[in-house]
Amino acid sequence: MSEHSHDKALFAAAEAVRARAYAPYSNFQVGAAILADDGNIYAGCNVENAAYPVGNCAEPSAIAAMLAGGAKRIKRIYVTGPGTAPVTPCGGCRQRIREFADADVTVISHGVDGVPLVQTLEQLLPHSFGPEYLGR
Ligand code: THU
Repeated sequence: MSEHSHDKALFAAAEAVRARAYAPYSNFQVGAAILADDGNIYAGCNVENAAYPVGNCAEPSAIAAMLAGGAKRIKRIYVTGPGTAPVTPCGGCRQRIREFADADVTVISHGVDGVPLVQTLEQLLPHSFGPEYLGR
């Protein structure tokens, strides 16, 4: 089965977890869903905090769920948020994805009322620094 064939399930997982996001300050609820190397889908939402900088994005929540579930690598990742503009991962999250994904991994950014934007990690984070620079 191609990774593309998982997109309906990834979208559904991202939207289901987005409904549980804790975003009382921005009111901008985000969901992320990862297709991992074990074939399972792992999802996470953003978690804000009254001390604003301590809040975290949906992507690291999904990465934490992936690792906690025993998987190791991102094969495809879907991010959903409100509105029509595609919700692309922030700069820090691009780097977090980079730690667990190859350059050719597809990142789908979707404002739920708009059209999904399909990109590779390389497009989002060109000339990036990663684990192999440190011998990993
Ligand atoms: N946010 C994410 O969770 N992921 C993204 O890709 C973009 C931004 C969150 C962080 C914050 O809780 C809210 O969206 C507004 O920035």
